[in-house]
Amino acid sequence: MTAIPPTKVVFDTDPGVDDAMALYYALAHPGIDVVGITTTFGNVVVEQAAANALYLCALAGRHIPVAMGVSQPLQKKPEAPPGFIHGADGLGNLLMRVPTTGELDPRPAAQFIVDTVRQSPGEITLVAVGPLGNLAAALQLAPELPSLVKEVVLMGGTVLEAGNVSPVAEANIWNDPHAADAVFTAGWPLTMVGLDVTHRVILPLALFKRVADHHQHIATDTLHHAVRFYSAYYSAHDPAVGSINGCYGHDVLAFVVLTHPELFTLQAGRVRVATDGLAQGQTMMRRKEVSYPQHGWHDDIPHSQVCMAVQAQACEVAIEQTLMSAWIDI
Ligand code: RIB
Ligand code: CA
Repeated sequence: MTAIPPTKVVFDTDPGVDDAMALYYALAHPGIDVVGITTTFGNVVVEQAAANALYLCALAGRHIPVAMGVSQPLQKKPEAPPGFIHGADGLGNLLMRVPTTGELDPRPAAQFIVDTVRQSPGEITLVAVGPLGNLAAALQLAPELPSLVKEVVLMGGTVLEAGNVSPVAEANIWNDPHAADAVFTAGWPLTMVGLDVTHRVILPLALFKRVADHHQHIATDTLHHAVRFYSAYYSAHDPAVGSINGCYGHDVLAFVVLTHPELFTLQAGRVRVATDGLAQGQTMMRRKEVSYPQHGWHDDIPHSQVCMAVQAQACEVAIEQTLMSAWIDI
């Protein structure tokens, strides 16, 4: 039997507690090969996001290139980082950080993405779980990028589920709606993992305690600490989450859809983003082949694959089993 090679991923992220969950899931899963990490503003300022990515990799004993990216949205005024959800440091206000080594790649994130994709045409999947400025900047640098990437999977947006920063908008898209619209209309194979599915998967804090108890390692202790802070926020604000003392896994599901696509129900549609006004950040999906008179919905808008339903319990099992495996290098 021929082994299937792992999916090569450039991970674009704003760590962030659920970003940390996603990173450790990706590092733990044999089907994923994280070949680079690019960071953006979002949950924290971009310098903190880069420091967190380096720190999380170092704790896990992984030497993965980390390139720092955009510090603000393409056009809109920046929003304040949500320290009340992720902690001022993005990792639940860690009490201390052990000294680690690891330096940033000197290239801006967009250049790193372009170089990495050009080196391995057709092989790189971009998994993006923050505001989408780095991908938009990479498209500006290399307009041919959509024909060179294998796939884009992004955590962001919502179609039927209520938004989490307004009645219609999800945070990553709202943080940089112009970048998001450029990404949705670029014409690459794109899968959207939005609140329609991430709000169905509530991960108990106890799962991360079991993982930490099992490994007895600073990497999983750090993740457990961060998830405790993050769960306190979600549990206080959403009774369904509070009833199990847990949190939404959001970003980790962008990897679970790669490793376990059978757990998701996808619908194809043309997605655009509202860039201004009260609906700013709304992801609107044209689900029917109707010829609308409104400008912007023409047939040349590419299709996205949008996750509309998920087998939540099976995702939780997959996440726990993967994090429980022997994946930490030191
Ligand atoms: O809306 C959820 C998204 O916003 C996730 O990427 C999370 O990290 C937050 O930034
Ligand atoms: Ca994120």
